[in-house]
Amino acid sequence: MTKRYAVVLAAGQGTRMKSRLYKVLHPVAGKPMVQHVVDQIKNVNVEKIVTVIGHGAEKVKSQLGTDIEYALQEEQLGTGHAVMQTEGQLGELNGTTLVVCGDTPLISSETMEALLTHHEKENAKVTLLTAHAEDPAGYGRVIRNEDGTVAKVVEHKDASMEELAVQEINTGTYCFDNQTLFEALKQVNNDNVQGEYYLPDVIEIVKNQSKTVAAYQTPSFEETIGVNDRVALSEAERLMKVRINTRHMRNGVTIIDPQQTYISADVTIGKDSVILPGTVLSGETSIGEDCEIGPNSEIKDSQIGNATVIRQSVVHDSDVGDNVAIGPFAHIRPQSKLGNDIKVGNFVEIKKSKMDNGSKASHLSYIGDAEIGKDVNLGCGSITVNYDGKNKHLTKVEDGAFIGCNSNLIAPVTVGENAYVAAGSTITDNVPGEALSIARARQTNKEGYVSKIQDKQNNHRG
Ligand code: UD1
Ligand code: CA
Repeated sequence: MTKRYAVVLAAGQGTRMKSRLYKVLHPVAGKPMVQHVVDQIKNVNVEKIVTVIGHGAEKVKSQLGTDIEYALQEEQLGTGHAVMQTEGQLGELNGTTLVVCGDTPLISSETMEALLTHHEKENAKVTLLTAHAEDPAGYGRVIRNEDGTVAKVVEHKDASMEELAVQEINTGTYCFDNQTLFEALKQVNNDNVQGEYYLPDVIEIVKNQSKTVAAYQTPSFEETIGVNDRVALSEAERLMKVRINTRHMRNGVTIIDPQQTYISADVTIGKDSVILPGTVLSGETSIGEDCEIGPNSEIKDSQIGNATVIRQSVVHDSDVGDNVAIGPFAHIRPQSKLGNDIKVGNFVEIKKSKMDNGSKASHLSYIGDAEIGKDVNLGCGSITVNYDGKNKHLTKVEDGAFIGCNSNLIAPVTVGENAYVAAGSTITDNVPGEALSIARARQTNKEGYVSKIQDKQNNHRG
């Protein structure tokens, strides 16, 4: 079988985005556009992927990682010039090279595979992925000969009135016979409106060498949209959302209102889970089966077990077990680990803490830098006083302990197994297991106080 390689073009600044962030790093469904492209390429069988970087080179590299190769394009002289920069890595090789733009985040591996198959079947030297666009503005137009074969691609800015009317566009994805590509690139000039070396000019050059140029038209223009500005970015986001949400629904997840549900590309959700409106699931998040998430919840980089309910709450970078109830209005902050059968109720904040099976913090608490054992009850208003202004300290509450309402646990401190802390206590010393600790002023009742004070006031007036 012919060997396959891939090139991703990602060196441009993306002027039309009007952004400090380099274009290909703009996220779509929570993942940078160029990462979508590379991930899809990884699903087709290629020997190596070379990404052309320039603007924001280091940032793009650290995003995409070290398992692919890079070629540096120091000056952005056009897409043809960009591919030229990969000559050191690919120029000597035989095989087929797939070229994809880093700003077409919706292109799927299925379409890439279909293009490669068409290219191989047609025995072509170049195969262009085209699409029919209702509004082709901004795209290169595919100009065909009378016999239907592709003659060339004309950029929007270089097109005549007649050419502008053509609705078949160049998607910016191509297959090339590798040797033919690098030979033809040497002949590409920059004699055009933008003064750039255009990659699509290779098509006309190869055609004039009487070699086979083929085109494969995908039925889905939507998959090929190129993101040049923020309007297109929002369109890409919308389309990606439909794709992602549809996939989850087909896999057995109920999404009550897909238009109001935002799930990042790499999130996984188990079957029979229900996602309510206003929910944002992002990063490397996994949700188990039979969960109910939302409405209006935000879960990022977190693992959620089965049958867990999270309402109107925020969970970041944390692990949550099975059959846990969170919210409404709870905040689980990074590095927290909740076991199974736990309840975290309204206005509870948990930070960098462990909470073991069966424990509860049902109302109005702050639990930071703490290790909470099994079956612990943290009463309403329990606070771990973890910060002395300089350092954070650990609070330990061992299995079965009961913390009464409105208690301060001043860390470092340990409350032993099955111990009780009386409501309103400020605990500064360790509480032994099985003990009751009361740390508050004793109550005194002043009998008859009201009439005494009234008498005093009357005497004063008189
Ligand atoms: C390009 C195509 C156009 C096609 C469209 C599809 C050319 C000349 N035109 O136009 O026919 O319809 O894509 O979306 O190829 N890049 C570099 N180095 C450069 C210039 C660009 O790496 O010197 C990268 C960009 O980062 C981007 C990609 O190549 O990811 C495409 O460049 P862009 O300027 O967006 O090309 P378009 O004008 O959209
Ligand atoms: Ca583009």
